[in-house]
Amino acid sequence: MTRTQSDEVRVIDAGVAPTRFARGWHCLGLAKDFADGTPHGIEAFGTKLVVFQDSEGALNILDSYCRHMGGDLSQGTVKGDSVACPFHDWRWGGKGKCTSIPYARRVPPLARTRAWTTLEQDGLLYVWHDPEGNAPTDADMYIPRIEGALSDEWSDWVWYTTEVDTNCREIVDNIVDMAHFFYVHYSFPTYFKNVFEGQVASQFMRGQAREDARPHAAGTPKMLGSRSDASYFGPSFMIDDLTYRYEGYDVESVLINCHYPVSPDKFVLMYGIIVKKSDKFTGDAAAEMAKNFGTFIAKGFEQDIAIWKNKTRIENPLLCEEDGPVYQLRRWYEQFYVDVADVTPDMVDRFEHEMDTTKAVAAWQKEVDQNLAEKARENATAGV
Ligand code: FES
Ligand SMILES: [Fe+2]
Repeated sequence: MTRTQSDEVRVIDAGVAPTRFARGWHCLGLAKDFADGTPHGIEAFGTKLVVFQDSEGALNILDSYCRHMGGDLSQGTVKGDSVACPFHDWRWGGKGKCTSIPYARRVPPLARTRAWTTLEQDGLLYVWHDPEGNAPTDADMYIPRIEGALSDEWSDWVWYTTEVDTNCREIVDNIVDMAHFFYVHYSFPTYFKNVFEGQVASQFMRGQAREDARPHAAGTPKMLGSRSDASYFGPSFMIDDLTYRYEGYDVESVLINCHYPVSPDKFVLMYGIIVKKSDKFTGDAAAEMAKNFGTFIAKGFEQDIAIWKNKTRIENPLLCEEDGPVYQLRRWYEQFYVDVADVTPDMVDRFEHEMDTTKAVAAWQKEVDQNLAEKARENATAGV
């Protein structure tokens, strides 16, 4: 039998991860973790940075490799307002200027290293990355304030950091991927909508609890579902207003999902949670809740990571109608990888897509019911 056109199999185009890193603000974690009087090394954007606090309390970020002979400043010490290199004690100020060389008669007048633009906001430290070397000027580029952060009405940040060995586009793809929430995260989306506009990409999701995956334990509050309004502001920082609905009350939280690239094939993934205090959740209870959510969300990311570890990069995903607008999302994401002058309207124009979830919800309900029936049979056999 000869093969016909219709027998042709789809070929995966794995492409190659870009060697350029996204333009934008990248969160490096909790500011207080850097404010301990020692230099901190951060491998990011294909190089190494050093973060240190000066005597005014401000956090500064420089290239970690010393311009003298290449020493690693993050292995040095903070002396006054400067970071001192461990190799020959050259001192570098927060603005990148060499402030002193104790053994030299004079400092070479042009001795300057690269200082990175920083932002401290809501207890978090951000660094600005731009391959073109421009400062963030556009108001759109800024990360919005997180109202609950550092507020007495909310718990403190519970913050997690982990390294992932793949290109960071994988996590950004999740913005449109409704189905993986059911299969990978054992949640049950019933409503799913995406909006991309300018530098913001949003995902609005409503979901119901999965009794088959997370059975309700007697004596604990019953979870009914969740409401998640999540937006990426720029290429790497997502703020998720996440409400869990329990029988009789809601728990409001803010989940941060952010990352920074280490290399084209590695990124650091971070997530942080704060929970709003209420009559139900006063101080300690809210902190406890944030910790529990954290553990729960950590599991979710581990599930994603297990997929990313084993999957291939794919430039030409083969999609069905119930998949989200992957290609449009990637066009949006592309704006951060080209020069500002090359950003085209199709990358930033408003785009909206609301998923018709009818078929998915029916199929998933059936699967949940089958799982529950199966479990009931097993329990009956085991005499539980
Ligand atoms: S390499 Fe840094 S002081 Fe010499
Ligand atoms: Fe995911």
